[in-house]
Amino acid sequence: MGVSRGGFSSRMGFILAAAGSAVGLGNIWGFPTQTASNGGAAFVLVYLVLAFCLAYPAFMAELLIGRYGQANAVTSLQKMSRNLWQKRFAFLVGFGGIVCAALILSFYGIIAGWMMSYAIEPLAKMLSLDGLAQWVVTQGTLRNLLFTAVFMFLTIFIISRGVEQGIEKWSKRLMPMLIVLLVSLIVYVTTLEGADQGLKAYLQPDFSRVFDADLLISALGQAFFSLSLGTSVMIIYGSYIAKKENLVTLGAQVTVIDVSIAFLAGLLIIPAMYVAQAQGVAIFAEDGSLISGSGLVFTVLPALFQGMESVGLVVAFAFFVLMSIAALTSSISMLEGPVSYAVERHNVERKKATIAAGIIIFIISVAIVLNIEFLLDFIAILATQYGQPIIAMLCCVFVGWIWHRSEVLKEIQQGNDAVEHSLFWKIWPWYTKFVCPVAIAAVFIHSIL
Ligand code: PFF
Repeated sequence: MGVSRGGFSSRMGFILAAAGSAVGLGNIWGFPTQTASNGGAAFVLVYLVLAFCLAYPAFMAELLIGRYGQANAVTSLQKMSRNLWQKRFAFLVGFGGIVCAALILSFYGIIAGWMMSYAIEPLAKMLSLDGLAQWVVTQGTLRNLLFTAVFMFLTIFIISRGVEQGIEKWSKRLMPMLIVLLVSLIVYVTTLEGADQGLKAYLQPDFSRVFDADLLISALGQAFFSLSLGTSVMIIYGSYIAKKENLVTLGAQVTVIDVSIAFLAGLLIIPAMYVAQAQGVAIFAEDGSLISGSGLVFTVLPALFQGMESVGLVVAFAFFVLMSIAALTSSISMLEGPVSYAVERHNVERKKATIAAGIIIFIISVAIVLNIEFLLDFIAILATQYGQPIIAMLCCVFVGWIWHRSEVLKEIQQGNDAVEHSLFWKIWPWYTKFVCPVAIAAVFIHSIL
């Protein structure tokens, strides 16, 4: 050890970096796709409840563990362990999170590669390179490998530069632009024919579907994926926050930003689906199911942009560039997990650790690209629907049952003297101890039964 650790230089830097990790393909690709395939507004409702009632408390647990430990996930968890068994358990949970982050990055990079290729298409069209424009949006092994490689290279490049110059600087510049573009597109889409039907599907829940086991488990996975939980990421980001900062509000701000952007993305994509359908693009099969599955966003959005005529090319370019960037601020957080572990636990030089981790993850991506039909879904479900909620639940168990209550309270109080009078102080410690683990376990049991 003894390696000097970086840290966020300002509060805004943390909010943007953590929100940068949280906001990504999960919000703009995952959430609308899940909403569309899981009963629209019913899914939105369950998602919102789970995000605030389970994901936010678990998010706070991870941030507190990190800030207390001031180290990578495994070391932080081990700092609060008092005997050998607890230390082993801490290793399992911390390392499990790191593996989970690596698995997620291996398929995330492929989808981010699609975003990049869709950003090149309008550019190629503007330059009248029609062959290229066609090639970049056609599913193919070579295209997938190429764009995944470029995306992984960018991720490695930023992470090798460290926290402040890398993660913080980029998140700060690019997040606000994404929000402005999203809101402008929503305003535009609501003026089109078919949008009101989409708004209805998005906002009027069918309450009979709310306890559907598939819907519940998908919403749980989506909520944890969106806040980057169970992956060691938020433990590490927590470890880079100064002790003088008020974690309770910071965590709440990041959650609200994340959930709002997912909600906004749904407000764009779901009405855009119906607009595209009204324009003759095939979105739904005869039985009402989606034709495009995980390709939904890549069918609906290009159709929308095409309707804008020449402006559409510029908007398409801007949108997919910003999406690629949103993906990048998430992917860098995933790579930071394994890297900080290798640097702090095994004294590996940061650059070397980044390149080695990046290459290992890329090799998994190659395996997925070569067997995309099967492996993509398999790894995505394994890591996001099972891995993330289970590891996040174990972090709650750690905070509730292993960490000393007085220490937990002391850490919450750092940077927030008034917290003792707040609802958070009164409720959160026992809520994390009892309600979170039981509720997460209950969703799993319900889905198995
Ligand atoms: N939260 C990111 C998104 O919604 O796109 C995905 C993600 C980032 C998952 C970091 C896991 C992670 F560790």
